[in-house]
Amino acid sequence: MTASPPDTPIAPAAAPAVAPAARAYFEGGAADEVTLRANVAAWRAIGLRPRVLATPRAVDTQVTLVGRRWPTPWLAAPMAHLALAHPQAELGLAMACAAQGAGMVLSTQATTALEAVARAVLATPQRGPLWFQLYPYGTRADWLRLIERAQAAGYEAIVLTVDAPLQWPSDRERTAGFGLPRDWPQPNLPAPPTRGTLSDLLAAAPDWDDIEWLRAHCPLPLLLKGITHPADAQRAAELCDGIVVSNHGGRVLDGLPATAALLPAVRAAVQGRCPVLVDGGLRRGLDALKALALGADAVLVGRPLIAALADDGARTVAALWRHWLDELRGAMALCGAPSLDALTPQLLCRVPTDGD
Ligand code: FNR
Repeated sequence: MTASPPDTPIAPAAAPAVAPAARAYFEGGAADEVTLRANVAAWRAIGLRPRVLATPRAVDTQVTLVGRRWPTPWLAAPMAHLALAHPQAELGLAMACAAQGAGMVLSTQATTALEAVARAVLATPQRGPLWFQLYPYGTRADWLRLIERAQAAGYEAIVLTVDAPLQWPSDRERTAGFGLPRDWPQPNLPAPPTRGTLSDLLAAAPDWDDIEWLRAHCPLPLLLKGITHPADAQRAAELCDGIVVSNHGGRVLDGLPATAALLPAVRAAVQGRCPVLVDGGLRRGLDALKALALGADAVLVGRPLIAALADDGARTVAALWRHWLDELRGAMALCGAPSLDALTPQLLCRVPTDGD
């Protein structure tokens, strides 16, 4: 097991267990992967400018999200098909997250039934939030059936992903010949994703009327994931209980700016009406600190968790979270921040990069 943080590339020790085509799926992004790289680089390009001689006597990483207090400000981002990374798949990820006080957003396209993940997590003391991510496939009635299933299982919010009405294999996946095995388990799909012509896909894409309808019918708090434009953020904040600033980890539309660059304008548009979460390119505890200082209430983490899971299942995921929490706590102390509220943009500065 490696206790050091596995970076995005799946740790070499795990490489033999993860097929090259699956690595292309997990690690890759859309087109030229400009957005994927920009996400990572943007957090690194933010500098810190703390005051000295102001060390707090204790640091507290608790956060309030949709009405409850949680031990840490991070959650595992929803990620599909985790059984391709490790046999423990979503169960291993969920148990490691819960044990370390991190939340989890389970994907619609998970390989494990949502009920089994909930059973593995909900009794853990000091766990993080358990949310369900919904892709709006099928009809409104299909969505509602799945939401009711998630609510009955104990999920505490619905995260509707709005940035991927169309998905197609990336260049990297095509080159590697990635495809899901026959009869691949997807026990949480509301309906099979629409196949067929482009016009079928376009006709099935959701719009703001669907969001209003869902808001009226969804019995759980509703967050929208994939917001990048301030005008969309404003509209979402009027309707929903939270938004996730996300470009899908650079996996859908290449050319979107880094989420670190998008977050401040979105935050300003929301005007405190709902929590703003962010994901994309966060690769260590320090990146999370910068995201929180820039205005995020909490952060989601994607690929680093897959790399950890592929390495040695839940054990390595738990080690990664511990490492991130130690780093966050230490950096908060060095920045004179006793709590997450004390992390503000005044702490940040821009550092020149090679391109400057
Ligand atoms: C994803 N993501 C994703 N998002 C979503 O809403 N539903 C999903 O099923 C998936 N599936 C998925 C699979 C894989 C392999 C990856 C890497 C990502 C996007 C994910 O939730 C998140 O937005 C990004 O992964 C965040 O970027 P980083 O942390 O991976 O850089």
